[in-house]
Amino acid sequence: MKYDFDRSVERRNTDSIKWGLYPDDVIPMWVADMDFVSADPIIRALSERAAHGVFGYSRPSQALILAIQQRLARLYRWTIKNEDVVFLPGIVTGLNIAFQAFAAPGEGILAQPPVYFHFFRDPVRHGRTLQDPPLVQNGDTYEIDFDRFEKAITRETRVFVLCNPHNPVGRVFARTELERLAEICLRHRLIICSDEIHCDLIYAPHRHIPIATLSPEVEARTITLMAPSKTYNVAGLECGYAVIRNPELRDAWKDFSYGLIPGVNIMGHVAALAALREGEDWLVQVLDYLRGNRDYLEVFLRENVPTVRMCRMEATYLAWLDCRGAGMIKNPAEFFLNHAGVGLSEGSEFGENGTGFARLNFACSRQRLAEALDRMKSALEDL
Ligand SMILES: Cc1ncc(COP(=O)(O)O)c(C=O)c1O
Repeated sequence: MKYDFDRSVERRNTDSIKWGLYPDDVIPMWVADMDFVSADPIIRALSERAAHGVFGYSRPSQALILAIQQRLARLYRWTIKNEDVVFLPGIVTGLNIAFQAFAAPGEGILAQPPVYFHFFRDPVRHGRTLQDPPLVQNGDTYEIDFDRFEKAITRETRVFVLCNPHNPVGRVFARTELERLAEICLRHRLIICSDEIHCDLIYAPHRHIPIATLSPEVEARTITLMAPSKTYNVAGLECGYAVIRNPELRDAWKDFSYGLIPGVNIMGHVAALAALREGEDWLVQVLDYLRGNRDYLEVFLRENVPTVRMCRMEATYLAWLDCRGAGMIKNPAEFFLNHAGVGLSEGSEFGENGTGFARLNFACSRQRLAEALDRMKSALEDL
């Protein structure tokens, strides 16, 4: 089936977080969901389940676990057992379980800003300490300063939380980088919590490597978080999972979660299964469209707004824009909201070294992207 991503669907008055935040004349390009209708097989499966009409307690089917196993085997040659999969209502929930189950109050979490704010806000909010060696900007991309990374580790550090592919800088970490990170973590006996929620939204020639697949030793210290939510635009259905191969870590995880973390709802299961079994066709097409939007954005900025520099994007639909050259040292998202009617995410939300940057979600029709960019260009011309 051919999907039409140029078609804009009205999302106002649908209780959407993205579309409900700003007045109707603002184009919202902040929170990470797509404005696209999800894959047809997912919609069909959900409709059939809704028509059944009985919504009692549910559990993940064996078919869903098998589909996850087959996906990991096919994409990464990663063989896992049934019991290694632990379902979650969301990946942020998984991050917080990792922070609290494996670091006591006062103990440390290691994160690399600029990064998704739950990586550094949540540990601190729950009484953990933060070690935050920053990613280092190098031209139009970011790199890891491994010396700084290792030096940031203290005797209290317990968990390294990795974002791969990275939100917001769009990196897909290479095998050599992952190997060096893993080697340091193993030497310091850290647990690795690897958030791989964006792992399907990758632009060729880049390839995702789950850090757990590097070696049995790394696998034994790693919790991998994955979900169909970003890939298939089903975040509102709240279905994710952790892959935890080490039974000791898994037991600690389950002990912590007991009575606190609900299972996944029926619709989340249904959507996940349909996505994994029949969603490939949609995924190929949406990636193609997103690649087109990424290229459009890159060319537009280069030709029309050269003072705003876009970070090279290897993955995700979240562009990281360096606005410091446009005279916006402080709050570019606030500027574009007030002067262009475009709702971006403020870079400083991702850490101090995000100040002067803005994140732009381009998972929308090309026409809407073009309109937003025209508005941003005019706002800068009037500056
Ligand atoms: C890296 C990362 N992890 C987790 C999430 C949110 O996951 P969930 O909605 O499943 O809690 C996001 C959403 O933007 C994200 O970018």
